[in-house]
Formats: sequence, C-alpha cells, structure tokens
Amino acid sequence: MEVLQSIKFLTGGLNIILYRKDPKLERVVSYINANIHTYIEELKDFLRIPSISTSEQYKNDMLKGADFVANKLKDAGLKNVKVIKTKGHPLVYADWLNAPGKPTVLFYGHYDVQPVDPISLWDSLPFDPVIKNGKIYARGATDDKGQVYMHIKSIEAYLKIVKKLPVNVKFIIEGEEEIGSESLENFINNNAKTLKCDAVLISDTALYGPGIPTITYGLRGLAYLQVEITGPNRDLHSGTFGGTIANPINTLAEIISKLMDKNGHITIPGFYDDVVKISKLEKENFRSFIFSEKKFATELGVRKLKGEKGYTTLERSWTRPTLDCNGILGGFTEEGAKTVLPSKAMAKISMRLVPNQNPKKISKLFTKYVKSLTPQTVSVKVKDLHGGYPVLTPLNDKATIAGATAMSKAFGKKTVFMREGGSIPIVTVFTKKLKAPSVLMGFGLNTENLHSPNEHFDLKHFHLGILSSAYFLQEYAK
Ligand code: BES
Ligand code: MN
Ligand code: MN
Repeated sequence: MEVLQSIKFLTGGLNIILYRKDPKLERVVSYINANIHTYIEELKDFLRIPSISTSEQYKNDMLKGADFVANKLKDAGLKNVKVIKTKGHPLVYADWLNAPGKPTVLFYGHYDVQPVDPISLWDSLPFDPVIKNGKIYARGATDDKGQVYMHIKSIEAYLKIVKKLPVNVKFIIEGEEEIGSESLENFINNNAKTLKCDAVLISDTALYGPGIPTITYGLRGLAYLQVEITGPNRDLHSGTFGGTIANPINTLAEIISKLMDKNGHITIPGFYDDVVKISKLEKENFRSFIFSEKKFATELGVRKLKGEKGYTTLERSWTRPTLDCNGILGGFTEEGAKTVLPSKAMAKISMRLVPNQNPKKISKLFTKYVKSLTPQTVSVKVKDLHGGYPVLTPLNDKATIAGATAMSKAFGKKTVFMREGGSIPIVTVFTKKLKAPSVLMGFGLNTENLHSPNEHFDLKHFHLGILSSAYFLQEYAK
C-alpha cells in the first residue's frame, strides 16, 4: 500500500516547470546532441554482430559481442573493464568508483539477441542495420543492444565534459538473458561483492507509448515446460491402425484444451493460490492510461481480443497469470498429405506468473496435473525448461525517483508508472543476492517487433535515452 501511494505522489508530483537548468549538465547535453550521429554509426557496428545466444553456431560472434561492449566501455573512460569467461557466454564488467560517499549504480543489460527466423519475413537483413523513418532496423535494435549502448554513451559524454561522474558506476552486461541468465546467476552467487551497489538500473523494457517517459515497476515471471506424448513404438499406417489405438497428437491436443476453461481461467489445481489481487489504487492508476482495445486489435491484425473474463486488457497483460502453447510438433508437416498415425507429439508450454507465484511450485503443479490428465493409452514426459520469478520494484526508492525525474527532464513530460507482461528473471537475483532495488527505465516500444521479424528501435528514443541516462547520474547524486 505504501508503495502504491507513492505512485500517486510521483505521477502527480513531477512538474517540469520546476526544473532549473544546471549549466554543467547542459554542456553534457549539448555534447550528446552534437555527437548523436556518431553514436548511431557505432550502434550499427554493434548491431552487425550476430550475437544469438541460443545456438552453438554463434559462439564466436558472442565473443565478438562481448569484446565490442568491453572496448566501448574502455573508450568511454570506465576502469577495470573485463570480459569474464563463464561456462556459457562471457559477461562484461566495468566500473568507475571515484565518487567517495556517493551511491553506486549498477547498469545491467544484455548483448545477446533472439534468433532471426523466419528470415523470409524481414524487409532487410537482420544483421545489416538500415534506418527508415527515423527508426533503425536490425535484430537486437530495441532488445537490448540499442538500450545498452545509450548508457555507455551517456557515461562517455559525462566523463569527456565534466571529467568525473557524480556517482559510482558499475556495468554488468550479459550474453544469456534470452536463454535464462544461468552464468550471470552463478557469477552473482559467487561474486556478490564485485557487483555490490545501491541500485540496479536496467533499460530492457518499453515506454508506454512514443514520447511517454515510463518507469516499469512490475514484470511477470515465467514457468516454461515441455510435454512429450508417446503412443505406439513407431509411426503407423493410419488406415490399418487408425481407430484402434490413441493418436498422440489428438491426445496432446485434448490435454492442452483442458488446461484453460472458456473464461480464460487456468484449471491447474492450486494455480491461483498465491496470486496477489490488484488493489483499488493500482486499478485506478491503470485506468489513467489511455488505451484503445480497437487500436490494439487492429495493430495486431485480429478482429476481436480474447482473455481472462473480468479483466481489462492492461490488467490481463500486467497483473494476471496466463498459459500459452509456444510450439507444437508431431507427425507429418511437410507439403502434401501422408497418411500416418504418429508415434510421438510434443508441445512447449509457458505460463507467465504474477506476484507471489513461485515458478518451481507452479512447475510441480503443472506436471502433476498434466500427468493426471494423460490417459493410459499413451505415456507422458514433462520437462521443466526454465523459470523466473515475477517482480515488483519499490517505487519509493531514491533510484526510482531519480530515474523518473531524469526521464521527465529529458522528455519534458510527466513520467508514468506501469507494469509489463514480459520477464527479466535476473531482477529477482539482484534483489535477493545484492539486496539492491532495480529501476526499470526502458526506452523501447512493444510495437518494435522484439523477438520477431523487422525488429527496430526509434532513434528519437535512443537519443532521449542517452540524455535520460546523463540526467539520472546527476539526479541520483542529489
Ligand atoms: N527485454 C525482454 C523482456 C521484456 C519484454 C520487457 C517485453 C518488456 C517488454 C527480455 O529480453 C525477454 O525477452 N525476456 C524473456 C525472458 C525469458 C527468455 C527467460 C521473455 O520475457 O520471454
Ligand atoms: Mn531484453
Ligand atoms: Mn528478449
């Protein structure tokens, strides 16, 4: 409750007219404005590296991605720049700790990107960045290379002009965010001291809309599982055997269809036990967001929206858990027709979780329920692929207030506070192991095709992000 009251305080309390200009910072701002085109060219070089973390094939490009970040951090004037080897992809660390008595902020982001398939749907090549209508198109543009690069440039500009930073700064940029952050989690468990800080600043989320400064204070968690159904010991002729034994694809489809009822309610027993209800105050905050269901549907190319009964679209995405089939495999899927009764079928199923659901507990409940739904005519295997905890960040922390003020100054508008449906699993580890609050100060847009063909990043927001980052350093020092 205390937290939510401060949302009101913050959204109502930031007034740009009250901001007095600081001559030192104005020189930093002018320097950034004068160099923005160089920054964009450098960002292109970063985007040319195909640092896809999912597949072994890009191992060398992952090293190149880490080296690129390390070199730019060095050029920016950061100290102790290190590419840290892990069992997986390397981490990049750097710091600048010459502001005694001032707080320390840890900048976190990721240089790994999602795979590019289906490549045929891209209008230009994913690793050959092009600028169209003020937007830069490439895989990783908005998620998360463009956003990581903003902070490197703000620090560089600050150090060039002022010669020193007003706060202590650390960077940890990882290469496994898109595959579960295992190496960074291990690193934090063994090196909490190295990353000790007063707050973590993360730019890996979105603005509510173009030009609207936004702090995200909630993320959903995740439980991701795989279900494999096996029927007969080999593929069979569907004429000779059809109708005599269970078809694994049909059986899998039946199981999936039982996981959610017609009201969009998940049927797994105990699934909602720990879900925190949305408070009145928070509902009120959500209602203050301009949202058109019609525009949302049109933009996505659907005639009608669908979701859990009794909730608005924003509430569904930001505060309610859900269950989705992410992929399904089985039988004959090539061109033409082959009459076959398959031996196996497989589905990948993810559940987005909300406070206070526990991904480990949810994974157990899911597994138990799927097994109970499986008839004796087939056998089932359920594998837990990965998970992450949901997040609510404190709104009354000094760093959150500095972030909101910084964005307001850069954008010239009041900062809004929203939640988000996506997940960044490492945030909970920062909270638990570093005992530091996170500030989610993102500059992307959810319409910028992250994880999808034609990913892009609005260069206006890239520019405003660099300015916000510079303002943040100054605000956080106050
Ligand atoms: N940057 C995203 C998270 C995100 C998505 C924030 C949309 C705001 C809006 C992050 O890179 C991501 O894709 N996370 C994964 C987590 C998973 C791979 C463990 C996700 O949400 O699916
Ligand atoms: Mn990301
Ligand atoms: Mn992502």
